[in-house]
Amino acid sequence: MFSNDKGILKLMATQLTNDSISAIEADWLIIPLAEAAPLPSAVAQLDEAIGGQITRLIEAEDFTGKLASTATLLGLSGIKTPRVLLAGLGPAKDLSLAALEKSMMTAARATSAKKETSIAVLLPDVSESSLSAAGIARQISIAMTVGSVGQDLYRAEPGRFPFQEVQIAGADSAEVQQAVLEGSILGEAVNLAREVVNRPAGDIFPVSFADKVVEIAKEIGLEAEILDEKQLAVEKMGSMLAVAQGSDQPPRLAILKHQGGDASAPTLALVGKGVTFDSGGLSIKPSDGMKTMKCDMGGAAAVLGAMTAIARLKLPVNVVGYMGLVENMVNGSSYKLGDVLTARNGKTIEVLNTDAEGRLVLADVLTLAVDRGASNLIDLATLTGACVVALGEDVTGVFSNTPAWSQAVQDAAKTTGESVWEMPMFPEFAEQLKSDVADLKNVGLRWGGAITAAKFLENFVSETPWVHLDIAGPAFASANLPHREGGGTGCMVRTLVEVAREYKG
Ligand code: BES
Ligand code: MN
Ligand code: ZN
Repeated sequence: MFSNDKGILKLMATQLTNDSISAIEADWLIIPLAEAAPLPSAVAQLDEAIGGQITRLIEAEDFTGKLASTATLLGLSGIKTPRVLLAGLGPAKDLSLAALEKSMMTAARATSAKKETSIAVLLPDVSESSLSAAGIARQISIAMTVGSVGQDLYRAEPGRFPFQEVQIAGADSAEVQQAVLEGSILGEAVNLAREVVNRPAGDIFPVSFADKVVEIAKEIGLEAEILDEKQLAVEKMGSMLAVAQGSDQPPRLAILKHQGGDASAPTLALVGKGVTFDSGGLSIKPSDGMKTMKCDMGGAAAVLGAMTAIARLKLPVNVVGYMGLVENMVNGSSYKLGDVLTARNGKTIEVLNTDAEGRLVLADVLTLAVDRGASNLIDLATLTGACVVALGEDVTGVFSNTPAWSQAVQDAAKTTGESVWEMPMFPEFAEQLKSDVADLKNVGLRWGGAITAAKFLENFVSETPWVHLDIAGPAFASANLPHREGGGTGCMVRTLVEVAREYKG
């Protein structure tokens, strides 16, 4: 189905040990250290076993513990791990999950260049921070799972290799053990989202994406439903179908259901924009803007990743994931400027820019989710360049019709360490969407374009509490950084899982 499918969703072997750290066997030992803090006793012991090398590095200021700095000790004897990586955490009192993630991602990326590497990570001393040992262990486990996987599926010589084994050393309570397992499930969900984003449009198109959804659903015991173009027409999804019209690839709506709660319990619906390639349609994008548009299904990828983790964690809630899958292309049947579409909820839409296609797809999928009984909605979409202009490449824009629901999503993002920022939903922006010939037009002014897009979507959620997450910036990273691989990022997967974990309706 996909070329070069290496298989996914294999649990990374993880174990805990309380052994003295010089007895741990692994290819690498990663030691997180805070800035300007005395060596924890376990590390001091190890330092003695290797002849005081760590103390000398610190004294010479070759390693200061500055956040995400590293120092490498190779060819060690006297301990069982031949290599040690010191990883800076920054000042102990400032340690946050986001800081820890940056440090541990850097460490994972620095140690994953060889095949079949085994890793041991020492749990850092967290007595000065408000973080729990379990929270720290979970974040380390996520970072080791995500940081050791590259975007080089199609390269003969990959730049990094998933770790074969990760031990988290220093605590073995049942709580920490569980957190490590959860971390690997979350990390694999993030990696799944990254992988589907990274696969190009020749590999991932609506039908192959939907096939993948069905395959994964079977593997982890989720219920899957796929609507093809005929069923979408029966469902009156005229807005979504118009976008698909210009492509040789037929559209699909993929739905995943996780029934973890009672039948009477509320349902959380996650809706993802799944434009498997966005050429812009007749309002065609210039080459530079089109280059990365394989990423335009990042919302659907996040929904898929989150649903796998929600199922594997057996969260006791009802969650349905909707992935609206289309390709926005140009052919003789393309939808045109001036066309008037009728959406599933009966509203008519004048198309004035075929590149504002994501909102047309989401409009119908949101309505379907409402009609099927969603109690709360979250949609995710690489929706607007304007959101990237407003918030930069790493921050997700939050838009909502219900303050309490928005707060719940923002609280979840805070817990996972993902950056989000709420944007206004002033009624003036809806004015821009008035059309002379239809109920709505699909674009407003250039200025504030992320907000007009959100105001457009608001027409399709009825009164249901709804949060729209514009992930156009953070879904795809343009370059490799020491702490992050370029390409698909899997952003918001962890936050969605956290929302589901806390979901009460
Ligand atoms: N998929 C794009 C938005 C996008 C831009 C995602 C950059 C990731 C990075 C979306 O479909 C789009 O083309 N939006 C237009 C809207 C405009 C025509 C109102 C945009 O942002 O220019
Ligand atoms: Mn577009
Ligand atoms: Zn798009």
